Amino acid sequence: MSKIILTGDRPTGKLHVGHYVGSLRRRVELQNSGEYDKIYIMIADAQALTDNADNPAKIRENIIEVALDYMSAGLDPSKSVILIQSMIPELTELTFYYANLVTIARLERNPTIKSELQMRGFGNSIPVGFYTYPISQAADITAFKATTVPAGEDQMPMIEQTQEIVQRFNYTYQCETLVVPHILLPDNQACLRLPGTDGKAKMSKSLGNAIYLSEDPDEMKKKIMSMYTDPNHIKIDDPGNIEGNTVFTYLDAFSRDEHFEEFLPEYKNLDELKEHYQRGGLGDVKVKKFLNNVLQSELQPIREKRKELQKDIPYVYEVLKKGSEKAREVAAATLDEVKSSMMINYFEDGALIEASVKKYSSM
Ligand code: TRP
Repeated sequence: MSKIILTGDRPTGKLHVGHYVGSLRRRVELQNSGEYDKIYIMIADAQALTDNADNPAKIRENIIEVALDYMSAGLDPSKSVILIQSMIPELTELTFYYANLVTIARLERNPTIKSELQMRGFGNSIPVGFYTYPISQAADITAFKATTVPAGEDQMPMIEQTQEIVQRFNYTYQCETLVVPHILLPDNQACLRLPGTDGKAKMSKSLGNAIYLSEDPDEMKKKIMSMYTDPNHIKIDDPGNIEGNTVFTYLDAFSRDEHFEEFLPEYKNLDELKEHYQRGGLGDVKVKKFLNNVLQSELQPIREKRKELQKDIPYVYEVLKKGSEKAREVAAATLDEVKSSMMINYFEDGALIEASVKKYSSM
């Protein structure tokens, strides 16, 4: 069976380092591994609209930002298909049929939906589109017969729901049309859910606690130097705590032994640095400066690539247009199969007319 990747992001803002370690970095590695037959990367604008219906301009503006982030991080349009969700109307049709296989109670139990509803404070005014976006996400994934969805931990409930829809579809219509996907989580614990610079679980523009992939170097340094650490680590000599210490979580996600050799040769690796911090005698500023060096060196090539790409914006739109066209063909073929499995492909089905002829010929 071929190995196919589909994953994506909502274009509600520029991508931050949480997106990067949670999924984007991995996608690029998988793309370059050559192990996958097809890779589809979706800019999920229709999903973003499910809670931004009154602000389509925000979504529209951020499509190019996400595309620039993708390509500067190393997604290569000659190896991966980058597409815009709303350009594939077949996805909405799939969503409509899948919706019949999902109960309201099941949607209500989806933990990601639950917490998102709470965060957005919809109260009694939950948009139907938002509530049902897990079904549309199942369409995104199955339209491309994806086997693998590299994503963060928060997407787990979405993939589980997709698996159920696939099984239910194949069982109900006695077919093997849809493929059961699995999630590919980051293998590094710190990358599962990178906290904001203030230590809060969620990185967001409104909290001002996100470091963006395209962040300006000075701005990034400022954010790192004011990062949340261990509030009880007051004097340098005090023993410090690394659990829940954002600077160490970021080092877990980003640092490699080579970084120590280059920027902090007194330590061989992160374990040694942690050990010293816990023992006492290591100040926050020194650790933060190290983190700054690590992140700057990691993001520098991405920033440079972005600058290049920004010089030819029409090219980036062309990539999206071509990618969307290619993706649409694939989704249309799946939709045909889906409709024939459901026996609603009336005009392609010669047996239907024949049966009707027979039914009335004896009368
Ligand atoms: N829900 C994802 C997010 O919030 C975006 C997304 C849309 C997605 N469709 C997808 C992710 C399909 C993986 C697979 O970022």
